[in-house]
Amino acid sequence: MQQVLSYIQKHQNDFLNNLNECLRIPSISVSPSHVSDVARCADFLAQRLKEMGMKRVEIFPTKRHPIVYAEWLEAPGHPTVLVYGHYDVQPVDPLNEWVKPPFEPDIRGGRLYARGSVDDKGQVYIHLSALEAYFRTWGRLPLNVKVLIEGEEEIGSPSLKNFLKEQKNLLKADEVIISDTPMLDREVPSICYGLRGLCYMEIHVSGSSQDLHSGMWGGTVENPVHVLAGILSKLKDKNGRILIPGFYKDVYPLSKTERRMLARLPASEKKLLKVTGSLKFTGEKGFSTLERMWARPTLDVNGIFGGFSGEGSKTIIPAKVGAKVSMRLVPDQDPDKIASAFKKHVEKISPLTVNVKVIKHHGSRAFLERLNHPIFEVAKRALEKAFGKKAHFIREGGSIPFVRTISDILKKPCVLLGFGLPDENAHAPNERLDLVNFFKGIEGMAYFYGDLAKWKV
Ligand code: BES
Ligand code: ZN
Repeated sequence: MQQVLSYIQKHQNDFLNNLNECLRIPSISVSPSHVSDVARCADFLAQRLKEMGMKRVEIFPTKRHPIVYAEWLEAPGHPTVLVYGHYDVQPVDPLNEWVKPPFEPDIRGGRLYARGSVDDKGQVYIHLSALEAYFRTWGRLPLNVKVLIEGEEEIGSPSLKNFLKEQKNLLKADEVIISDTPMLDREVPSICYGLRGLCYMEIHVSGSSQDLHSGMWGGTVENPVHVLAGILSKLKDKNGRILIPGFYKDVYPLSKTERRMLARLPASEKKLLKVTGSLKFTGEKGFSTLERMWARPTLDVNGIFGGFSGEGSKTIIPAKVGAKVSMRLVPDQDPDKIASAFKKHVEKISPLTVNVKVIKHHGSRAFLERLNHPIFEVAKRALEKAFGKKAHFIREGGSIPFVRTISDILKKPCVLLGFGLPDENAHAPNERLDLVNFFKGIEGMAYFYGDLAKWKV
């Protein structure tokens, strides 16, 4: 083990340079103009996995973006882990808010700035670097490893469900390991045992067949913007309760024990609020901030489009308008049921003076681990050894569709060891990754794989 750790110490720059090469590829999965970049990133990763020493490196094409798979299964009698991550990234707009171009990695103040640095290429490279350290020192891995890196996570993983079902045998493992979540705070190593699910919808409201002069027609026909504002205002009440009938029906209540556990976590509301830059936290009455962030379902309007919003003024009654609305779900809400309930509710509260269309985008179920498997203690100790700090079990409010799906298919523990920080601007301009966390993360994973290998199967 000492050999592996000193290899990691000595090769920090190499690990960083390898990651930077990957960060230079603009693998934006949602953007049709980047399809070939996403494919190039998959090829690049496959090449990297081969160079490291992984076997059976394969690229599986899908309808949109390829899945990269690699394995090394030469440790009979030892466990097999499935390591998951994603190499696709979010778009970079607003581009002018980036201090340096998003695909030209730049180190400032101990942080690596680039799109994908924390979400999720940097965290994928934590695992690849730890594995590489074993290959270069021991000439082998301490346990059997399968690696799955997808290119569609940021668009809801549309191809993954079928792929996982079809490749159930290929992906068989004793446990699943994922790094795509933040830590609770700097110096608070964290293992995440719950993620929220998602149901993403879009509402279109149209009135006249084209924009109308508001002087000629104002006061005679319906204005779709007003109708949409009315619909949106009827989705939640003033206490933050969502008004869609049946919305809370399948929500697991928080147990007293868990509420106590969450209340004891070393989280500072003041610090969290500062990250957001908002004036005050708000939300569903009767729940703490962490409970609302992690364990309660929510509804948010992501954007409104249509009508005139250019410079100056233009006097029109817009013909059409729309909004994107997403709901974060908790166990055991079903995204399909929630989507139908949403559609029914919106149609019911819409006036007959306009056409209202409700479209469903992607959905994924929430994930909650019971933490009664001994692997969670092993993970906790590995992080504590690397960080020299007490590790904590947390939940998160974001979604990773893969996790619930693989957990249902394999029925094996999923361990989410996150190395991001809440203020690292995932999905926003100037995304970054703390380099201390990157290097400690590599050490932590070297310990974790080493400790897990001691289990007999
Ligand atoms: N890394 C995030 C997931 C995440 C974010 C977990 C914050 C915990 C806290 C992931 O890349 C992501 O952004 N997922 C999307 C999924 C969606 C498009 C289905 C999300 O949560 O919006
Ligand atoms: Zn993301």
